[in-house]
Amino acid sequence: MQPLQNIVFSDAHQKWRETAREIAKEHLLPNAAKHDKEASYNEAAFDAAAEAGMLGIWIPTAYGGSEDGITGLALAVEEFSKADPAFGVAFAVNALGSIPLIVGGTEEQKVKYLPRVARGDAACAFALSEKFAGSDAGGLSVRAEKNNGKWTICGEKKWTTNGSRADIISCFAVTDPESRSRRISAFIIEKDDPGFEIKKVEPSMGIRSVPVCETAYNNVSLSEDRLLGGKPGLGFKHSMMTLDLARPGVAAQAVGTAAGALEYATTYATRRRQFGQPISGFQMIQAILADMGMQTEAARWLVYLCAAMADSGAKNVTKIAAMSKCFATDTAVKVATDAVQVFGGYGFMEDYPIAKFYRDAKILQIYEGTNQVQRLVVARNLIKEAAEFDYLTDFIPVESQSTFGGDYEIANTATTNS
Ligand code: CAA
Repeated sequence: MQPLQNIVFSDAHQKWRETAREIAKEHLLPNAAKHDKEASYNEAAFDAAAEAGMLGIWIPTAYGGSEDGITGLALAVEEFSKADPAFGVAFAVNALGSIPLIVGGTEEQKVKYLPRVARGDAACAFALSEKFAGSDAGGLSVRAEKNNGKWTICGEKKWTTNGSRADIISCFAVTDPESRSRRISAFIIEKDDPGFEIKKVEPSMGIRSVPVCETAYNNVSLSEDRLLGGKPGLGFKHSMMTLDLARPGVAAQAVGTAAGALEYATTYATRRRQFGQPISGFQMIQAILADMGMQTEAARWLVYLCAAMADSGAKNVTKIAAMSKCFATDTAVKVATDAVQVFGGYGFMEDYPIAKFYRDAKILQIYEGTNQVQRLVVARNLIKEAAEFDYLTDFIPVESQSTFGGDYEIANTATTNS
């Protein structure tokens, strides 16, 4: 009989999981608290990941990556996050920032940038959100105008994760304010572009070792080859296509966060003694641990399913990506909260690792689309799919199918009350 992981994952996928685990043991577990306290980036862990080729996991082989897809990304991010959820996002945000190039870049843009990302020479960020445009990603105000063959970008972005650490930023700006569906375009910003400025590194509740920034674009002047895909108006679609592939990364971060919190809580419960015995002997603690374990495992396999669907090129990844992001991140917050409860008073203290899991977990329900937006996306897709379930229509009594909300249709309902 083969171990389950050999049946589900390729050798390459398993290798990435193992490599991430080794890096986590050497660089994350011993230093997570220090980087959190100092709000400093874990350069040693990033360098080790780059050295191992991990920044190329999701990048096609044609551009210097290993093409191990969203599944490879998810396994690596899960392992990193188990040790330090903040490094999980420090790593995964490179996928979020570079996937726009993969899904929308011209051949020249891919050849120019993706090998640098794969080698770990260019860290990435994704600048979509603004002060007044978070969930409403179509309502951006940063403007890009074209004059004499050059694009000029003006305005400010908010919550750009990795902003001050990134070398390349995928930035979304309005190029056609009058258009509804082709209003936005994506541009490739390089950190040294004159006029690009890090305005502020936000003080945050969690993921403190990753810089979350306000960025400003003070008449940043760009040549035409910085317009993603070479055509204006495709930015909104490119941002949504990117999020479909990047949300499993956030979901994997959530699974790692939940798994790490569960391991800490279970280990603690077997060591902490009260009333003359380890607290793991008490049924109330056992019930908490059981729920944490079930929820984490369910989230894990939803994320693996989503990653496998994304890698298979399945059409409707949007729905499962939103489902896995929403379910896994709600799970992470619940499990991290329960872990604090198991640790009791110690869980509330920063001397213990579990408080950081609790603080790091909260942002998962917010970034890369709030869980309210994910539920909206899931529901929209379910309702769209319902049109295909016409074979069920005969089994739904006609009385509930009136097109006149609330009006009585006496002739049609008379025979359906069986
Ligand atoms: N793939 C391709 N195209 C898509 C798409 C997808 N997944 N989703 C929508 N589109 C297309 C639609 O087909 C439509 O095209 P047409 O106009 O040609 O018909 C167009 O985009 C508009 O779609 P909607 O009408 O569905 O758009 P909407 O305005 O109703 O908004 C939304 C949809 C789901 C709410 C979207 O705005 C959204 O996802 N918001 C959340 C944004 C988000 O995740 N922000 C986080 C940014 S990253 C971050 O957190 C910072 C960080 O650094 C980590």
